[in-house]
Formats: sequence, structure tokens, C-alpha cells
Amino acid sequence: MSASINSRVDVRLEALTAKPGLQAHSLLPDNGSGRTFYLETFGCQMNDHDSEKVAGVLVERGYRQVESPDAAGLVLYNTCSIREKAAHKVFSRLGLYRGAKEGKIIGVLGCVAQQEGEVIFDRAPWVSLVCGSASYQKLPDLIGRLEAGERRVTGLDKDTDETFETEMTRRDHPFRAYITIIEGCDKACTYCVVPFTRGPERSRASENVLTEARRLADSAYSEIQLLGQTVNSYRDPSPRRMSFSELLTAVAETPGIRRVRFTTSHPSDFGADIVQAMDAHPGICDHVHLPVQSGSTRILRAMKRTYTRDEYLERIQLIRGARRPISVTSDIIVGFPGETEQDFADTLSLLDAAQYDSIFSFKYSPRPNTAAQHMTGAIPEEEQGRRLAIVQDHQRRIQTTRNETMIGQTVEVLVDGQSRRDGQWAGRTSSNRMVNFTSLRPGLLGQYHLVQVTGAGPNSVVGHHLI
Ligand code: SAH
Ligand code: SF4
Ligand code: F3S
Repeated sequence: MSASINSRVDVRLEALTAKPGLQAHSLLPDNGSGRTFYLETFGCQMNDHDSEKVAGVLVERGYRQVESPDAAGLVLYNTCSIREKAAHKVFSRLGLYRGAKEGKIIGVLGCVAQQEGEVIFDRAPWVSLVCGSASYQKLPDLIGRLEAGERRVTGLDKDTDETFETEMTRRDHPFRAYITIIEGCDKACTYCVVPFTRGPERSRASENVLTEARRLADSAYSEIQLLGQTVNSYRDPSPRRMSFSELLTAVAETPGIRRVRFTTSHPSDFGADIVQAMDAHPGICDHVHLPVQSGSTRILRAMKRTYTRDEYLERIQLIRGARRPISVTSDIIVGFPGETEQDFADTLSLLDAAQYDSIFSFKYSPRPNTAAQHMTGAIPEEEQGRRLAIVQDHQRRIQTTRNETMIGQTVEVLVDGQSRRDGQWAGRTSSNRMVNFTSLRPGLLGQYHLVQVTGAGPNSVVGHHLI
């Protein structure tokens, strides 16, 4: 999850934010099968989690995952389309397979698949499988049809609950697990492809979510991250009609679950009940990812974000009023069509007012099907780059100062990394801060430990293990 992001200030947060970087899906145990697949994932955590489901579906049907595309009979890319660069990367990856040997199946999954559909066959005729996230349960059948001689197959349903079927999921991480509670998106932000690539909003029944949480706890998972593009717009479709904050609470109360995260929250649906749930349950992590996109009400209106600058800052006040400090992070787009110097200055002043612990920041990228694509007042790329650098520099200073206030504090981390150098470990606080620390004790991975913070940088803090 820590692939670098070109345009982001910080690499420590896991927002529903696409990573331009790629990561090979981790290797699964060899089940001795002759049928092999390679799976590479682009994009946000929803895609990471979908890949865990794809791997599970295939392994269940007797496929074996391999590390290199050359060794695989089936090569799959789970793709992201959020910005033009991300989509381009997919096609340059596919270009590697021009003239691939007969019998090798090349497949495109995810958001580019859903968005471009059969057009992918025109752009890369050697691709024979195109399948979006709502059709992954059908993958074995689609592949079977290819093996039986069909040349091209597609799975492009938009409105199924298939990604809520999780029994077969093969999880990459041994102690931290994702649960998607809401799929798709019904907001209509004028810059965004997600409503087109992931379809309309569908929530998963609360009992179903809680059953999965209990199952994860039984398998020794202690941290759960609830996922959705607008996670807090959750609406329980079952007669229980649990609200998002009630569901959050119920997951946090699952015996064995020590931490619950949730991402991404939409500001318009962020109510006081969420903060009250956080106050009542220390197991709900001290972190809210609340993307603002712009500090200018005029630009927010053009983006159809459905809140003003002041309404957004009221949400921040709600969070700041919690009984314990809660880390707030955000996404920022610079250079949206028509963004004036004044609008941009409003974004900088919002950074000062919001005091984020981290942000992801992006140059606006025009996307197919979106309303903003046809707006006038495009900002030249060079100017977008200038604004992005200013935003990142501004935020870097804010978060360095915020991290410095942690020096001297004792924090609890879930240890999730070990350096090659002896005695060096990494973990995350409940607020999702990365902590690099020293310890003479072995075998800390997956455990919770107390660390005394002794130093701070813009993206992480350092310290030593308190035994
Ligand atoms: N559902 C989340 C965000 C999903 S996409 C939300 O509403 O906040 C992750 C981030 O990518 C967005 O928050 C936005 O900052 C950025 N993004 C989306 N579309 C973009 C585009 N066309 N150009 C640049 N950045 C974009
Ligand atoms: Fe895209 Fe807006 Fe939906 Fe987020 S809320 S996924 S930015 S349309
Ligand atoms: Fe995620 Fe990218 Fe799709 S951000 S939802 S993988 S377009």
C-alpha cells in the first residue's frame, strides 16, 4: 500500500486515492495447478481489495498465481481511470503484449475496463478479456469461454452486488483487512469518472458486514478498514436500517477487532453522530479523510461538491470538538477550469484553517464523460504544476509543525514493517501516522506496542520502543 504517489505530499496515508505506481499482487501458495495467472493492480484501495477477490475467485477455480507475467497463461491488469496519466499507464503496459504468444490471455479489469469497454479491443487487439468490478464473480466463466475458443469476452455489468460476495477473498495482509460496505457513487462531481466506472451507489446489508468482521476477527485480523467512495453515505438496505455511525460502532465492538478505519468520507454526509461514535469508541481510529478539493466556494460549486467552504469548515469544527485529537486529511485538486489566483489563494488559506495532517494533491485532469471536460477556462499544465508545487510546499510546512508537537508523546502503533537494519521497525498510530522506531525485541510484526516519539519530519515521526 505504500507505492509512491508523484503528486502527493505524504506517502503515509491510505486514502481512496489512486496510486500511479504499480504493485504486483502478492504471491499465493502454489496449489500445483498448471493454470497460472499474473495480476497487477493500479488505483485506490477499492481496487486493491477487488484484486484480493479476483485472486480468490481464480485460486478457488484451481489457478495458481505467479510473480512474472512471462510465466503466466493469464495476465490481468486491474486498472484505474481517475486521471489521464493513470489510464495511459494501462495502455503502455498493454503495449508490452503486442504480438504475445498464441494462447496467452491478456485481460483488463477495473475502472478502465468499465469505462472504455470494447474500445479496448480496438486499441489493443491482443486483449481478449475486458471485465469491470461488478462482474468479477463471472471471471472463471468468461475465461472458460476463451479457453473454449471464443476470441473476445466482456463482463461489463454496472449495477450488481457481486463485490459484496467475499467468501473467496484471498487477503494480502495478515492482520489488516478491508471490507467494502458501499459500492459505486451517486454524487456527480463534475471532474470525476467514478460514477461511470463503478456505477450507482449500492450499500451492503449491515448483518453481512458484521458477519465478515466476526470472521476476520476469528482469523486473527485486528484492524478493519471500511471502504467506499463515499463510505459515510452508507444506507443499510436491510430491515435493520443501521446508520453508518451505528455500523461503525458495531464493527468496533466486534470482539478481537482493535482498530476500525473508514475511508472516504464525503463532507456533505458527515454528521455529528460520527464524531459521537468516535468519542464513545476508542477502537474507531482517530482519523477522518475528508476531501475538500478546493477552498473556493465558487470552484466547489463548479465541481458540484454540494457544500461551501464555510460548511466544510463547520465539519472540521465538529471533528476538532471531539474528546480526543482526531487527525484530518484531505484531497486537493489544483487548476480546475476557471480557477483564478483568488480561488487558488482560497485553497491555500483553507489549508491554514483546516490544519490537515496530510493531503493528496493533484492537477486537474479532464476525463471522458464528465461535465467538467467541456468547461471553458482550462488552466495550462505549467500553471497547474506551479500551483501544485505551492500547495505541497505550504502543506509540508503545516504537517511538519503538527508532527513536531508529537515529540515527547507516547503513542500506540500497530507494527507493520521491519527494516533490514537490525532493530528498526515501522508502524502506524490510530491517527494513521507512520512511526519509525527502534526496538531490541524481535517478532513485533502485527502486534501493538508503545513508542516514545523523539523526532519528527513532514511525513513521519521517529522514536523508540517503550518496553
Ligand atoms: N470519493 C472520494 C474521492 C475519489 S477519487 C471523494 O469524493 O473524495 C480520489 C481523488 O482523486 C479525489 O478526491 C480527487 O481529489 C482526485 N480526482 C478525481 N478526479 C480527478 C480529476 N479528474 N483530476 C484530478 N484529480 C481528480
Ligand atoms: Fe467522484 Fe465525487 Fe463520487 Fe468522490 S463523491 S467518487 S469525487 S463523484
Ligand atoms: Fe479507484 Fe481509480 Fe477506480 S481511484 S475507483 S481505481 S478510477
